[in-house]
Amino acid sequence: MSLLPRLPTLAPGTAPESAIRDQFGRVKRKLRISLTDRCNFRCPYCMPEQPEFMERADRLSRAELARVLRLFVVGLGVNRLRLTGGEPLLRRDLESIIADTQALKAEGLERVSLTTNAALLARRAPALKAAGIDDLNISLDALTPATFAKLSGGRDVKPVLAGIAAAHAAGIPLKLNAVIIRGINEDEILPLAHYAVRENLPLRFIEFMPLDGRGEWSRDRVVPQADILAQLSREFAVKALPRGNDPAAYYQLDAGNTQQIGIIATVTNPFCASCDRLRITADGSLYPCLFSPRGTSLRDPMRAGADDAALAALIRGTVWNKDAGYIAHPGYVERPIAMNSLGG
Ligand code: 5AD
Ligand code: SF4
Repeated sequence: MSLLPRLPTLAPGTAPESAIRDQFGRVKRKLRISLTDRCNFRCPYCMPEQPEFMERADRLSRAELARVLRLFVVGLGVNRLRLTGGEPLLRRDLESIIADTQALKAEGLERVSLTTNAALLARRAPALKAAGIDDLNISLDALTPATFAKLSGGRDVKPVLAGIAAAHAAGIPLKLNAVIIRGINEDEILPLAHYAVRENLPLRFIEFMPLDGRGEWSRDRVVPQADILAQLSREFAVKALPRGNDPAAYYQLDAGNTQQIGIIATVTNPFCASCDRLRITADGSLYPCLFSPRGTSLRDPMRAGADDAALAALIRGTVWNKDAGYIAHPGYVERPIAMNSLGG
């Protein structure tokens, strides 16, 4: 029996015939591809204590990436691409990879986005813009140096703020994302909101998901959407905005401008029923869901000489079998790989 309400992500007729669907009728339009599992940060909610990184040779090469991405866009109807990590700025060929994707914009690709911790962004923002990046998601979990250090494995917040300023100056639209963990950075909610208002930057708070590399997640460490709202309401008049086709619920702050704040309630209000995403690890494994127990290697058949039709069939089969998601088995999830391999 389906656990999912009938909730197609797109109105009938808007998805191309080639679009990939899963067994619950959810159409997949967004692909997040990790470019490396390495990171210059060690966020405890993401990285295992002793990460074992993949070998360079195991990663998809630039040519393999280009082939996979073309197949998803041209053959399978994906129209949004997000490049993730680990930290994608650790890849020196990132600008080339972005430039390679631009040709797909004539084939239905609408946006190419990047998720980054921004520590290495300041110098590269202009090159990313020139390569054709459409927007950035930047992780910013705290402004207080000691709290930022706790959440990043001892790193400094200053280069991140410089990265944000540089991206803004380069004209790249960006969103800030903050994962909130009980007892660690709940007291950053208001300072982050004030910063976002002051800088006129969109900010989204994210509930701590049971996917951390260290098994430290527990239900009582999640700061629920309702608590985040209660905190915001202490210093802002907060008005809920109509819910769009977005994992975040948006709120208007009465702060002298049109600032909006989003909350992604991954735990207390999961959006699995309308999930339109797929994920690929840097070594080319397709994970239809963050909670998928295993991936399907696209790299191995590709290296063994599979043609595009065979790869497309493998992808369609894997996606069809996509599980209902977190809503089907909420709680801590044992997985063979950590969040740093799946790009958040
Ligand atoms: N819970 C919520 N979000 C997470 N991310 C990584 N691990 C978690 C987790 N356990 C997301 C964060 C981070 C991005 C790279 O991935 O948004 O900024
Ligand atoms: Fe690195 Fe991002 Fe994971 Fe932090 S959340 S360790 S910045 S990949």
